Amino acid sequence: MPMPNAKIDNQRMEKIVSLCKRRGFIFQSSEIYGGLNGLWDYGPLGVELKRNVKNYWWRVMVHERDDVVGMDGSILMNRAVWKASGHEDTFTDPMRECRFTHKRIRVDQIDPQSGTVMQFTGWHSPVWKLTGTFRVLMRPDEHIESFRRRVRRLVAENPLPDISPKRESRTAQPLKAEDIELLGEEKVSSVKDSFDFHPETGAELTAPRAFNLMFKTSVGATEDETSITYLRPETAQSIFVQFKNVLEVSRKKLPFGIAQIGKAFRNEINPRNFTFRSREFEQMELEYFCRAEQGMKLLEYWKEERLKFYENIGIPRSKLHVKNVVDEERAFYSKGTYDIEYEFPFGVQELEGVAYRTDYDLSQHQKASGKSLEYFDEDSKQKFIPHVVEPSAGVDRTVLALICEAYSEDEAPDEKGKMETRTVLRFHPRMAPIKCAVFPLLKNREELVAKAKEIVALLRPHMLVFYDEGGAIGRRYRRQDEIGTPFGVTVDFETLGEKDIALKDTVTLRDRDSMKQERVKISELVQILLQRVN
Ligand code: GAP
Repeated sequence: MPMPNAKIDNQRMEKIVSLCKRRGFIFQSSEIYGGLNGLWDYGPLGVELKRNVKNYWWRVMVHERDDVVGMDGSILMNRAVWKASGHEDTFTDPMRECRFTHKRIRVDQIDPQSGTVMQFTGWHSPVWKLTGTFRVLMRPDEHIESFRRRVRRLVAENPLPDISPKRESRTAQPLKAEDIELLGEEKVSSVKDSFDFHPETGAELTAPRAFNLMFKTSVGATEDETSITYLRPETAQSIFVQFKNVLEVSRKKLPFGIAQIGKAFRNEINPRNFTFRSREFEQMELEYFCRAEQGMKLLEYWKEERLKFYENIGIPRSKLHVKNVVDEERAFYSKGTYDIEYEFPFGVQELEGVAYRTDYDLSQHQKASGKSLEYFDEDSKQKFIPHVVEPSAGVDRTVLALICEAYSEDEAPDEKGKMETRTVLRFHPRMAPIKCAVFPLLKNREELVAKAKEIVALLRPHMLVFYDEGGAIGRRYRRQDEIGTPFGVTVDFETLGEKDIALKDTVTLRDRDSMKQERVKISELVQILLQRVN
């Protein structure tokens, strides 16, 4: 059962966002120009983590199965695809707009507000005179004078074009808040639980309108109706439209699946919670085609498989919730949908949807394209349109869940034995960006450095390793703990056989979580580590 009231921990989330930037997991896109809302760049460690997620998904969903093949479709497709799939007409969110700033907000994200509705019948300034009414919510703790200043500022910065103000001056100087005189101020009512005002500006909202979430673009030299298409909002559609080609070349029999990982774009109106709701993101989708009578059973099967996947990358079952999406909330063509949710620090939120989409998608494309998308069953000699079960996961949400799950603070002794707070990312070794760090105990001892570099070269073909010779060994361990490196190898004087010849060519292998060290032979290092990180 979902836990809508799971604890919200904003402070933890702030620490995670800050660590992500500080250590190079995730940066704001175009940061030096002030960024662009809902868009993110993955830094050196983030890109490794992301690749580990995608590679493991591909391994268990494609390589380790006989019944799934992969594909990689284009992001831009013929507009007809989006007409047939229903996206052009119905991939919308109902939105309301602040009358002043035009900031949009999704109808379902407007929280109840309280305050006093103040109505103005116009305003006057050296540049404009306006008659017409507008309403702004005065908050319960707001003083009337500061409220009036706020409204004047709102008016100065965002003159209302939708009530055609009369221009009184030829030189359209920028308005100054202090020159604005508010006319006809009237207290309308006290509201509780009002849904009519923008939560940030407090100004009244327009009536709900449907906004399409797809980014429109055009292909070719001319920009007219015929060149219009969209950046794909999901990867699934290219799988449906290539169903026949893939079926023919792979010679698979039902049930079988086609998998794809790739970028998707949605002009989300309120991107939020760090990367959770972004405008550009990656999906990992499987369309698993089957006979109608297998649909509901396969929905259960894939839900369980997907839960196992998350457990295998280090997200415990206890933090995952399965929401059985009720009839009213499901797409009309779906006979059953589960949302797999995770307890993020900002609440329980969807990681993945597993949906039984019936034969809707293939039927739509068959109808619109006029090309047969039927399957011929050799045994019964029947032709029919297959049904499909779709586990659809977000790469970025999985990465975020992994970071949130891994983040922890504990106490560990510093070089002088004094306890200090240690920040650790407890990634499952399979997911950790860097698998092993290699340290010579001292950087000014040539033999130690040479041996450590030899070990780096030994491990490098098998995994991502990091060499670090700078600073005290304790500091070097901490730096790796903070980015989640599960293993550390230290080359010391025993390695050189200086203290005990029996220990020659052995190293210490340190475990990030327990901080315990074991002595292992260099010759066995690759095998030991591979067993633990795969
Ligand atoms: N083909 C089905 C489909 O696209 P969806 O529930 O809209 O279904 C599937 O998306 C997954 O894609 C979500 O569970 C989520 O992990 C990811 N996703 C969707 N919108 C996203 C966004 N704006 N930012 C990040 N991930 C998103």
